[in-house]
Amino acid sequence: MNSAQTKPPEANYDETKVPAYTLPDPLRLEGGGKVDTPEIWRQRRRPEILRLFEQHVYGKTPGGRPDGMRFAVRSVDKAALGGKATRKEVTVFFDGREDGPKMDLLLYLPNGRPGPFPVFLGLNFSGNHSIHPDPGITLSRQWMRGNAAQGVVDNRATEASRGVQASRWPVERLLERGYALATAYYGDLDPDFDDGFKNGVHPLFYKAGQTKPAPDEWGAIGAWAWGLSRAVDYIETDTGLDAKRVAVVGHSRLGKAALWAGAQDPRFALVVSNDSGCGGAALSRRQFGETVERINTSFPHWFCANFKRYNSKEADLPVDQHQLIALMAPRPVYVASAEEDLWADPRGEFLGAKHAAPVYRLLGTEGLAADDMPAVEQPVRSVIGYHVRRGKHDITAYDWEQYLTFADLHMKAGGRKPSGAGGG
Ligand code: GCU
Repeated sequence: MNSAQTKPPEANYDETKVPAYTLPDPLRLEGGGKVDTPEIWRQRRRPEILRLFEQHVYGKTPGGRPDGMRFAVRSVDKAALGGKATRKEVTVFFDGREDGPKMDLLLYLPNGRPGPFPVFLGLNFSGNHSIHPDPGITLSRQWMRGNAAQGVVDNRATEASRGVQASRWPVERLLERGYALATAYYGDLDPDFDDGFKNGVHPLFYKAGQTKPAPDEWGAIGAWAWGLSRAVDYIETDTGLDAKRVAVVGHSRLGKAALWAGAQDPRFALVVSNDSGCGGAALSRRQFGETVERINTSFPHWFCANFKRYNSKEADLPVDQHQLIALMAPRPVYVASAEEDLWADPRGEFLGAKHAAPVYRLLGTEGLAADDMPAVEQPVRSVIGYHVRRGKHDITAYDWEQYLTFADLHMKAGGRKPSGAGGG
């Protein structure tokens, strides 16, 4: 194979070279009719858009909560983090079997305050033990991407891996501000390499004789999003946690998964996309930074096989990513970018948020209180929130402060608006 021929074109970082494009209208039915009432949105247009994302982008999730799924509380420490927190570890056995696919959830709840607590839920990149140096966290035994700097040896974490991602998880700050944290390793759901979907949760749902997902069935992002919903299944059973106030948060590829989880599962009261880029909050049609062809080439296992049809054919996509954000409406959603993270197309992420706003307005909320991209570190805190911070692709203390303030405004005091979550 001649790699010069198969290599996708270089990324464009020049705003003047963004092609002219027309976005699909979230408020127009596929058959052409106008979506001018909340009922038409809920009953017809929302399901239509959700199906298009399933069919062409992320793939259908073949099953919800599996029969036989059970939770086992593995440890509780009521005096964790010097007494500030209660730490719990809960294993979710997806088909009930000890040796079947499972997800280890790590939870921290604030001590010394009355619950039940609103929750930030997010998947992590490097195992639960990586989010905090707390020696009480069980070291993950799962496959990890090779990373000597993170103490990963032969694709397994070691004691040296503890706390290596702590800058991304300001646990004490969340607790101080009255939130619980729930997290799990994304590799528990599907290890992030292209193995033809032999490992992870996909095989749980194969029909007789099936060996890989059909072209319109889920890839890895679909599995990660599914796992986030299974974490909510657990949260619903824990009286210390308020299942009506669960914010799902994700950085980068896990921001794509957070958006897709929030779109499919209305139990998420608030959704945060941190630097989610292509296939996340950024408009695909801009072809700025990472493109559909590029993402499908580097990460052939992330989306459904049908998505590859749109390699270098963004204009043919029946949806664009503003419609994914619109699927949250009227629930609060926050999109964040980083100034130097051009690969993720900060302006495209802002425009994804902006073009979701008409749906939010139809449903009686303000939408996004900004017509143009705000200046760096000038957060917009309408029901669609947005900021672009200084610096690179990462999730930082600055980002978290904005999410906590946004959640205080839109989720803490009483949760969902009377119009209800965007469920149907
Ligand atoms: C790569 C990939 C992005 C992704 C990012 C990440 O840069 O191209 O799409 O968001 O990894 O997950 O960190």
